[in-house]
Amino acid sequence: MTDAKFTSDPPADTLAGVDASGSTTATGAPAASDRHSLTIGPNGPILLHDFHAIEQMAHFNRERVPERNVHAKGGGAFGTFETTEDVSRYTKAGLFQPGAKVDMLARFSTVAGEQGSPDTWRDPRGFALKFYTDEGNYDLVGNNTPIFFIRDTIKFPHFIRSQKRLGGSGLRDNQMQWDFWSLNPESAHQVTYLMGDRGIPRTWRHMNGYGSHTYMWINEAGEKFWVKYHFHSDQGVEGLTGEEATRIAGEDADFHRRDLHTAIENGEFPSWTLSVQVMPYEEARGYRYNPFDLTKIWPHSDYPLIKVGTMTLNKNPDNFFAQIEQAAFEPSSLVPGIGFSPDKMLLGRVFAYADTHRYRIGPNYHQLPVNQARVPRNVYNFDGPMAYEHQGNAPVYAPNSEGRPFADLTGPAGDGWEADGEMVREAYTLHADDDDWSQAGTLVREVWDDAQREDFVNTVAGHLLGGVHGEVLERAFWYWKNVDADTGKQIEEKVRAGVGGANPGGEPELAKADAADPIVESATQ
Ligand code: HEM
Repeated sequence: MTDAKFTSDPPADTLAGVDASGSTTATGAPAASDRHSLTIGPNGPILLHDFHAIEQMAHFNRERVPERNVHAKGGGAFGTFETTEDVSRYTKAGLFQPGAKVDMLARFSTVAGEQGSPDTWRDPRGFALKFYTDEGNYDLVGNNTPIFFIRDTIKFPHFIRSQKRLGGSGLRDNQMQWDFWSLNPESAHQVTYLMGDRGIPRTWRHMNGYGSHTYMWINEAGEKFWVKYHFHSDQGVEGLTGEEATRIAGEDADFHRRDLHTAIENGEFPSWTLSVQVMPYEEARGYRYNPFDLTKIWPHSDYPLIKVGTMTLNKNPDNFFAQIEQAAFEPSSLVPGIGFSPDKMLLGRVFAYADTHRYRIGPNYHQLPVNQARVPRNVYNFDGPMAYEHQGNAPVYAPNSEGRPFADLTGPAGDGWEADGEMVREAYTLHADDDDWSQAGTLVREVWDDAQREDFVNTVAGHLLGGVHGEVLERAFWYWKNVDADTGKQIEEKVRAGVGGANPGGEPELAKADAADPIVESATQ
């Protein structure tokens, strides 16, 4: 079959394991050849009716779905969540009833980097969870930080573009990052966190996860509570120094993905303890911080942690594309006993994720095995690209006279809240202690020690020295002096003197976070 003159196939005695007994076409018939396309004579043109060759080429062109616009680089694993405590007085959700055990999927990620970007760039980490419960899928799509950069969903596209690449050069640009941050002082708490010693986790196993937003819990009696989720790593919390992170980025861009995979492969199953902070529904109005502002934490002294259970990851994906790349996490996937809150970021996200999945994966993404709810479904979505679930001749409209059930709740929503007043475009109502700087300042002054503060000053100065200039630089100095006068002054002095870690490619040495320290997230205790 082969033209001996022009092949340089390896010698026959090195071909153990090479099996030439045949493959099939996509439709299951024997394929003619995976090595030679059909031509008119050995030197002739390729014939269009070699459909197997055409299929190889055409399918290859469609091998990728668009990468996630944010959180493109990540990895994940399957596991279980077990409720070990009794929190039934706060929620009726089945997965949080004592003794409940559900299967789950977790995906961890960086935010701004693209698919192939290094795992160890300084960035928040995504902490996305999907629980396959008896009441449908519950997704909790959080980060490794309890707060976020902005408090209104309309800012999100602007924020993300400022962290990605310039339209012209295609380069990342510190000037644009600081321009955005310094023009949006609500970012101060999160940027402080990011530039601190938890800014680059050692591994995904060594970071905490947070729901970040305030959610609602509803118990069997219909009572409502406001809730924040905290997943504390049972491995301890450890950070990478800037230098370590930069070195690893060059040596192994998949460092975090590999670490999780290897740990699970070796039977070292990472686990996290879930606790919640619970605020009685009525206390929200009078609380000293606006409890729905995503740039704020609730000090543990105000609302202590209440333990719920344990999440353990114990199974690697066996098809990364189908189970991780096509996994569709969406804050809109709730189960009875859990609701949204007036957080303007959360409400925007409730729209954004399902919408991006329809674009990125296709409108029937819920039918893919990794996204499929493991309960009987009676959904009136119909047909569309790649649809394969169907209801036969059952009515495709509701209501109907053929007995196919439809939903018909009326009256006040059991998971709703009161809203009234004029339509406005305004930031949240300020509560007694609300401002943009205080919680960030408390983190710097009261939670960190001298060494951590010094590392922080070096990291920020190094970042600013990475090309930030003019009015943006002056505004950055103003920003940090508002967070903490002394620290801000030190940052300014270092930058004016041109001293600080280089960026990118040589961030200053950072102290390792204290693995046992649970209070970084509660800066105002
Ligand atoms: C991913 C939008 C804020 C955590 C994404 C994606 C979009 C998005 C479009 C890509 C999803 C995909 O293609 O699969 C938004 C918008 C936000 C927002 C509009 C603000 C209004 C946040 C916040 C958090 C967060 C506050 C954490 C508390 C994540 C995570 C992922 C993600 C973890 C990756 C999910 C995965 O692993 O597939 N976001 N996001 N996002 N977002 Fe957000």
